[in-house]
Amino acid sequence: PVTVYQNTDIASRKVARRITDLIQKKSKNGEYAILGLATGVTPIGVYKELVRIHKEENISFKNVISFNLDEYYPMKPTSPQSYVSFMKENLFDHIDIDMANVHIPDGTLDIEKIPAFCLEYEKKITELGGLDLQILGIGRTGHIGFNEPGSAPNSGTRLVTLDDLTRRDASRDFGGKENVPTKAITMGIGTIFKAREIILMAWNRKKASIIKKAVEGEISSDVPATYLQLSENVEFVLDQDAASELT
Ligand code: F6R
Repeated sequence: PVTVYQNTDIASRKVARRITDLIQKKSKNGEYAILGLATGVTPIGVYKELVRIHKEENISFKNVISFNLDEYYPMKPTSPQSYVSFMKENLFDHIDIDMANVHIPDGTLDIEKIPAFCLEYEKKITELGGLDLQILGIGRTGHIGFNEPGSAPNSGTRLVTLDDLTRRDASRDFGGKENVPTKAITMGIGTIFKAREIILMAWNRKKASIIKKAVEGEISSDVPATYLQLSENVEFVLDQDAASELT
């Protein structure tokens, strides 16, 4: 289903509330909430609201285990452009999550160690019973995570090559496209699909044409987000601008 909100703030607050509702429900049963998290501009408002709820409503993240979708490769966690830095700045430094429960693909590995790391990442998720909720943004290539055009629907966590458009879109963060890593480690489409609930968020007119393709276009590896049409557990959460080209 597609839900269109009047603006990004309202949409972000709704998504944040769904996350804290899940955390509280799990906590009542003495269980962990297993969350799949995204970086980028899109979820920033959600994370802000989660921080606010944590502080003002005293909701704890002690029973949260998180898995981030992706990380650039190579990338040092201490680099300001790393997704580790992003997650700390926007969320983890402001809530009471146990950092031992946080998982982000490791951008420092020797290349030959990556396949084993990726299998282990999948295994950890599976052993915990799978992701309860996966949060997604969408790139202008139609990528989810860093699953660029050509990604297989059953793909797992792996090392990928970033699309040129994705690197151009990231160039501001890196002070030029030439500084953007050419590769990343990302959860696969198959990994994302196994989540019990998936929320793909998109804001802004810049995303309107890719959202139209993702929601209404033919299902194809040319636009990996179209695979989400095959899932019963997906909700597209949009603002009016991102929804503006939908029929
Ligand atoms: C980030 C990720 C990417 C972004 C997408 C949109 O972890 O996996 O798929 O969600 O590139 O990025 P923004 O939100 O910056 O437009």
